Amino acid sequence: MSKTIVTYFSATGTTRRVAEKLAQEKQTDILEIKPVIPYTNEDINWQDHESRANVEGRDQVEVAMEPLDIRDYDDIYVGFPIWWYTAPRIIFSFF
Ligand SMILES: Cc1cc2nc3c(=O)[nH]c(=O)nc-3n(C[C@H](O)[C@H](O)[C@H](O)COP(=O)(O)O)c2cc1C
Repeated sequence: MSKTIVTYFSATGTTRRVAEKLAQEKQTDILEIKPVIPYTNEDINWQDHESRANVEGRDQVEVAMEPLDIRDYDDIYVGFPIWWYTAPRIIFSFF
């Protein structure tokens, strides 16, 4: 039988709700992609040019979880919010 996991990053809960629904309906494993330093509301203020989310585009964001062994899965969903027309930096760290 093929094995599937839903992975996701969510700062304010929208992606989390979708990921949990998908994992529940498809009966898959689920893994939250978490930063070592959690995001505060100030961190994700997109209107502030100096907010963490706006400046970290140039940096690596350290992930807090153990690496996922992709050999365990046939299908891997990756859920994330769009930040400035692309994936948040933490998704690139996860990859
Ligand atoms: C720093 C930042 C940049 C964003 N950039 C975009 C964008 O380019 N396009 C867009 O449609 N939404 C953008 N958004 C809105 C988020 O994608 C949207 O609120 C999303 O539902 C949040 O998901 P979450 O609750 O799982 O964190 C941005 C939000 C933040 C915090």
